[in-house]
Amino acid sequence: MSAPIGFAVVGCGVIGRVHAEVLAALPDTAVAVLVDTDLAAAEKLAAHLGSAGFPVPPVTASLAAALARGDVDAAAVCVPSGLHADVSVAVLESGRHLVVEKPIDVSLAAAARIARAAEEAGTVASVISQHRFDPASVAVHEAVTAGRLGRVTSGVATVPWWRSQEYYDSGAWRGTWELDGGGAVMNQGVHTVDLLLWFLGRPVDVTAHTALLAHERIEVEDTVAAVVRFESGALATLHATTAAYPGLTVRIQVMGDRGSAVIDDDELVWFHSRELARSVAAGDAGAGAVPDEPEDQSAAVLRPDEEPTGGPGTSGMFAGHRRQYEDVVAAIRTGAAPGVTVADATLALATVHAVYASARTGATVTVADLLDEHP
Ligand SMILES: NC(=O)c1ccc[n+]([C@@H]2O[C@H](COP(=O)([O-])OP(=O)(O)OC[C@H]3O[C@@H](n4cnc5c(N)ncnc54)[C@H](O)[C@@H]3O)[C@@H](O)[C@H]2O)c1
Repeated sequence: MSAPIGFAVVGCGVIGRVHAEVLAALPDTAVAVLVDTDLAAAEKLAAHLGSAGFPVPPVTASLAAALARGDVDAAAVCVPSGLHADVSVAVLESGRHLVVEKPIDVSLAAAARIARAAEEAGTVASVISQHRFDPASVAVHEAVTAGRLGRVTSGVATVPWWRSQEYYDSGAWRGTWELDGGGAVMNQGVHTVDLLLWFLGRPVDVTAHTALLAHERIEVEDTVAAVVRFESGALATLHATTAAYPGLTVRIQVMGDRGSAVIDDDELVWFHSRELARSVAAGDAGAGAVPDEPEDQSAAVLRPDEEPTGGPGTSGMFAGHRRQYEDVVAAIRTGAAPGVTVADATLALATVHAVYASARTGATVTVADLLDEHP
């Protein structure tokens, strides 16, 4: 059994705390040091870990001091989005593994800097997209890949959340182009954009409108409606808002000519596959023909395994991060590619940028053109 992988957690705010708790709780990782330019935030998180029964890590306001430590093998970058590349490149140039929060950064130029540094470092670099590791997402991805939905024809993705004015006022960086990089689709919606691409493949172009309707003192949109066209020919609608009081569930529908699936707030609430219906019918009553028109749709409803409950890292936000860290640890230990790569996150970011470019110009925007600007 090798020693746990030591992580520097850089940025000790809302999500830094989730990373620190998951890293402290997992058997194969440890929090080596907490870093925050606001030293009080790092000290508060260190005390929190101590009160939860974990070892109290040292704290520093200096990234360089953290990266000079011998017990730091990797870093979790949890600073405001527009600072991700600056911190991530320093981490990679020091030869460490990298886990960086979503979005990869706010600009494609910054994402390209991370990609270049990761290639030179040759270490593991992964970007948080924790919902890829939800059992429901894994089940739908496997079904699509195995062809169980037939030809995927369309998708519907909606993130109808509510964020109060106090949320935007709670940090000077929130709702700014420079550090948040955008609003409802960049900050809150990028998870769902990533899932949509994971299920439907490479996006070709985007046509979109954005609006700021229910908040003040922010530069970015709180409402987005977009249409995405995919290389396969599939079409999808993408809706994201932080202006839907009191906040509804995130829903992704994937539809094909042989089946369809619906994920609602991370749960697989609907799954029908004609192929699966055939095997159910064959098991029940011998090899029966399956009609082209579905009849009893409940026959082929699939539910993911029951989730374990209780204990650190087994619920909500923590569960997704825990699963993604298990994937990152496996990548570090085995040399396999992580489940979410820098290229995956860059494609999601380019899709978000295509939304903004289309909303700005009124034209349909080709995603590859944006990527070509920052090879
Ligand atoms: N995956 C998710 O579900 C999820 C959820 C929330 C936030 N996030 C992402 O996490 C990031 C942080 O968001 P947050 O809500 O935790 O923000 P936050 O404002 O609560 O925390 C950010 C922390 O970073 C510190 N910081 C700023 N610049 C720094 C630097 N150069 N070096 C070290 N520390 C620095 C700040 O002092 C602050 O404590 C954002 O990119 C956000 O998009 C992801």
